[in-house]
Amino acid sequence: MTGILEKPVEIYGKKINNRIVFHPMEGCDGKRNGAVDELTRRRYLRFARSGAGIIWFEATAVCAEGRANPRQLYLNEETKESYAALLREMRELAEKECGFVPLIIVQLTHSGRFSKPNGTPEPIVAYRNSHWEKGKENQPYVIAEDEYCDSIPVKYAAVAKLAEEAGFDGIDVKCCHGYLFNEFLSANEREGRYGGSLENRTKLYFDCIDSVKNAVSKVFVTTRLNACDCFPYPYGYGVNDKNEIDLSETKVIINGLKSRGVELINLTLGNPYLIPHFNRPCINAPEDGKIGMERIYSVTKELKSAFPDIKFIMSGLSFEGENALDYAAKAILDGVTDFAGFGRMTFAYPDFYRDYLKNGKLEKNKVCLKCSKCTELMRNASVAGCPVRDSEVYMPYYRKDVLKK
Ligand SMILES: Cc1cc2nc3c(=O)[nH]c(=O)nc-3n(C[C@H](O)[C@H](O)[C@H](O)COP(=O)(O)O)c2cc1C
Repeated sequence: MTGILEKPVEIYGKKINNRIVFHPMEGCDGKRNGAVDELTRRRYLRFARSGAGIIWFEATAVCAEGRANPRQLYLNEETKESYAALLREMRELAEKECGFVPLIIVQLTHSGRFSKPNGTPEPIVAYRNSHWEKGKENQPYVIAEDEYCDSIPVKYAAVAKLAEEAGFDGIDVKCCHGYLFNEFLSANEREGRYGGSLENRTKLYFDCIDSVKNAVSKVFVTTRLNACDCFPYPYGYGVNDKNEIDLSETKVIINGLKSRGVELINLTLGNPYLIPHFNRPCINAPEDGKIGMERIYSVTKELKSAFPDIKFIMSGLSFEGENALDYAAKAILDGVTDFAGFGRMTFAYPDFYRDYLKNGKLEKNKVCLKCSKCTELMRNASVAGCPVRDSEVYMPYYRKDVLKK
């Protein structure tokens, strides 16, 4: 069976075999020094045999203070070889199982407000945000001062070089989900060189992209971008003062990305801590998941029609369960997106695309149940995976780290 999902696309001069993307999904299962550990390896080898055209490696820290948890992946001189070894294994397995190698991108991150390098919050923030800090006003906050921001592009460049040496194909300068660069986009009231005007609010993000581009020669630069934060103005970007989604600044940002040679954007929105159901529509949420899907769909459609020459990846598709690939194929045919990105489904059912190719459908008793237990695991400082569909490995963690608590 072949259809639109199987139609290859070229980006950055490279052929991508199909339209399936495995989204970045943190497993919180690295070693204390940030190296790949056994569960990390298991996850990525499951992904490697999936047949996906792009595998987007999860949030990987560029500095110790910006790690979201003590087991977040952290690429540095000491850990580089563990990534290189895993990439070699992944490519070998993909070649053997699928007859081609996927494009492998690494998401580089500074967790900013959500930094917990030692297991408890050590937030580094763009500005004090009363929307966020309700009930947490007394927590210690470190403001990322201008001098600190000036030092970040150098860190990104150094880690990008290591990523290139380790063998990644592309580097994602992450700007979503409330992490540091994304938070700067709404630093409307911050003074100094990184706040106020849109030019200032994008300075850190764009400086890092420029710096990464200058540091590497073989890998390309891409980004995972929040289309809008869906927070009330002025605490989020991509919303107007009537608190409606307004993508005019997003479009200016995408123009800035285009002028920097970015050809691929992995679109997302919202915030996984305060409004997780916006980014990953699910059951048992304050709004019907269909509303969440419509929001993601319309935002992606608006940006794709404004930038037909940029390739976009749509998110939230695990919500569509058994019908997810048909939904994705239609969205591509309708010109809403170029690629279909999957997050929770990859934890639950990494072989979903293989089964689709083989049988023309997904197996009902294997698909993601949109219960977001994977998120619960992560929020409870455990390792993240699917305790329902991959229960042998993850149910014991769910019992110990979620249910017992
Ligand atoms: C456990 C978990 C870990 C995640 N880790 C990341 C991450 O490292 N980087 C990122 O950009 N998004 C991350 N996400 C968001 C997903 O990439 C994806 O956007 C989201 O789950 C919605 O897609 P889905 O409906 O297919 O799950 C994570 C989501 C979950 C549930």
